[in-house]
Amino acid sequence: TRVALAFSGGLDTTVCVPLLEEEYGYDDVIGVTVDVGQPASEFDEAEETAEALGLDHYVVDARAEFAQLCLESVRANATYQGYPLGTALARPVIAEAILEVAEEQDCTGIAHGCTGKGNDQLRFEAVWRDSDLEVIAPVRELGLTREWEQEYADEKDLPVEGGSGGDWSIDTNIWSRSVEGDDLEDPSYVPPRDIYEWTDEPSGETEEIEIAFEQGYPVAVDGEEYDPVELIEYLNDLAGGYGVGRTDTMEDRMLGLKVRENYEHPGATTLLNAHEALEGLVLTQEERQFKQQIDQQWAQKGYEGLIDAPLVGALEGFIAETQKRVTGTVTIRFEGGQARPVARDSSFAAYSAEHASFDTETVGKIKQEDATGVAKYHGFQRRLANEAIAANAAD
Ligand code: ARG
Ligand code: SIN
Repeated sequence: TRVALAFSGGLDTTVCVPLLEEEYGYDDVIGVTVDVGQPASEFDEAEETAEALGLDHYVVDARAEFAQLCLESVRANATYQGYPLGTALARPVIAEAILEVAEEQDCTGIAHGCTGKGNDQLRFEAVWRDSDLEVIAPVRELGLTREWEQEYADEKDLPVEGGSGGDWSIDTNIWSRSVEGDDLEDPSYVPPRDIYEWTDEPSGETEEIEIAFEQGYPVAVDGEEYDPVELIEYLNDLAGGYGVGRTDTMEDRMLGLKVRENYEHPGATTLLNAHEALEGLVLTQEERQFKQQIDQQWAQKGYEGLIDAPLVGALEGFIAETQKRVTGTVTIRFEGGQARPVARDSSFAAYSAEHASFDTETVGKIKQEDATGVAKYHGFQRRLANEAIAANAAD
């Protein structure tokens, strides 16, 4: 009997290997690592640990697919409690890739090393429970703590590193890097600067870049075209140098628990800010207002790892319709840790400088004076209601 394990080479997934044999009776464990843009060092770690464990190890490259999903999230202006969705969007992509390997390799079980307190268990299993494989979550089912895992690893002489980056739990993909756990669990503790790897301390320096969008998808920077993976990596590098895209927040997880989370997402912040600025130029007031609700629902499903829900397809129908006009350019200035839109341009602009200008009086058939009638009616119902309240209070 064979089981496929979502494998990173970290402590959680390393202890899962012997446990799947001892506790769950599998005689063959295969490890699968899915590339969604983690640093090379993580693959080295996974590779080395797998080798030391004698584990059959598969690496699947899902970067292109994941990057495309990140760009869909840009069209939806997707954030959860103020930060761009990284881990959340990557999980279904990773889960699918592992499931494919598991089925190819005739596995009867599929396992992850997520805790029973987090979101990731839910996101992985939403995908895996669509299959007939036995879903196994050793850390949750055996009630493991990190301390227990460390002792078990020592006892079994498992190949776990003393841990670069302290005892933080780090999750990285091209869209964002998350750091949590250990001393960061205390919300009143100010994190040391070395939790950050993608972003430098903001300096006094500034730079401007021009991002081109086609139908809501970012396609070029300063006239140079990039494919989605390259584009995101390029902007992470560039914007990270200006300290753009840090979040330190109390996050409400799906189970209802609050957790202290730190994120870095320089490229994501840059693209989201630019995209929203372009929508501000081309979409009508009512489209923008309604789209906020659509975007929020998209982000919620994204956070839940349920990006394949029919609702998301329906939301994307609306989004695609609006994005037909989200073509143009936005200039972003990196300054003081921010990626601030400072100019936007589109042939679809729902904007008339002439009409809005303080310097012109009559444009076409419209003159300033025409607003007088509107001004008389503006707030009319509330005037009547407030008068009635006052009259009743006087009685
Ligand atoms: N809480 C975040 C989320 O649900 C990030 C979790 C990342 N995992 C980690 N081990 N750092 O998306
Ligand atoms: C984990 O369980 O591996 C990390 C935390 C989370 O899922 O939110």
